[in-house]
Amino acid sequence: MNKETLMLSCSETDIARAGEILRNGGLAAIPTETVYGLAANALDGSAVRKIFEAKGRPQDNPLIVHISDVEQVYGLTKNFTPVAKKLADAFWPGPLTIIMPKKDIIASEVTCGLSTVGIRLPENEWARKIIAAAGVPLAAPSANSSGRPSPTTAKHVFDDMNGKIDAIVDGGECTVGVESTVVYAADGDEPVLLRPGGISPEMIAQVCGACRIDDNILSDMEAVGEVMSPGMKHKHYSPDARITLIDSDFPAYKKYVEERGPQDVFALCYDGEGERLGGIPYIEFGAENDPQAQCRRVFSALRELDEKGAKTVYARCPKKDGTSLAVYNRLIRAAAFRKIEL
Ligand code: TXA
Ligand code: MG
Repeated sequence: MNKETLMLSCSETDIARAGEILRNGGLAAIPTETVYGLAANALDGSAVRKIFEAKGRPQDNPLIVHISDVEQVYGLTKNFTPVAKKLADAFWPGPLTIIMPKKDIIASEVTCGLSTVGIRLPENEWARKIIAAAGVPLAAPSANSSGRPSPTTAKHVFDDMNGKIDAIVDGGECTVGVESTVVYAADGDEPVLLRPGGISPEMIAQVCGACRIDDNILSDMEAVGEVMSPGMKHKHYSPDARITLIDSDFPAYKKYVEERGPQDVFALCYDGEGERLGGIPYIEFGAENDPQAQCRRVFSALRELDEKGAKTVYARCPKKDGTSLAVYNRLIRAAAFRKIEL
């Protein structure tokens, strides 16, 4: 496709228009509370194939299916397992994707041949209205080009996708800012966390009694053994800049960065720290004690580093518990697992 991408608002007319594009096998980027999604009819294999082309996405990385009403789950899964149901009751609508056994009605392109499917009922009102207007479940990965940071504004989507998709619906800035938590609940009675997000493992454990964290989430190496979620083994969030995480307190971080700058060095630090760094150029990504704000900022901050032409970036290393785990997971990947402990 090489025509101009249509920019739509969240007016009733524009939402109906987006629904029509999607129903007819087109591609539209839609706002959700996590990140913008690049949507297509999940029941139409040829529509779904266009998502992979537009993003340049590896063919073995499955997509998430989005619904507008919890009742739709029964049409998509062979078994709404007790664990999956508990999770849906507690966290839907919201930033949680639940992996369940798949029904054949879902195009095999969506799941890349797996017998399971990830389903999510988003909280964002516009997202649900667009899904309802389309009248079909929507397959939607994040609406970035593969390997770029996920988009949290319509402009981010435009920068990556203009001319490659039919439409972008502008619903403002995403309120969560990192992709959904992905949890495996297709069998057994203990859910397995496959990707951290706005719903923390602690929150899941509170509802299900336990939550196993897949080894690949914390591993600083290449994927360990056989991966449960294909997304884990792909290169992710790779900005142009070479980022290194510095695991230390602020004084040690400041000393480390100042010894190496200011020539060709950029700092990625918490709010209020930048101006204390002796003239080093910086980008801040939220307050140290506010992981939610860090989630909202992290992807924009990575895009800004590229826009400023940053080459060598030293980043503060987020904590690994609660919602911070989601920020750590994105940044350690953006840093290609480079981390220095001081
Ligand atoms: O918040 C989100 O989840 C956003 C918005 C648009 O909803 N979507 C999103 O999609 O982040 P994507 O494609 O960027 O990430 C989907 C992740 C991948 O890591 C993929 O491997 C995993 O979910 N996944 C999808 N289906 C799976 C399945 N059946 N089994 C295991 N992992 C699966
Ligand atoms: Mg993605």
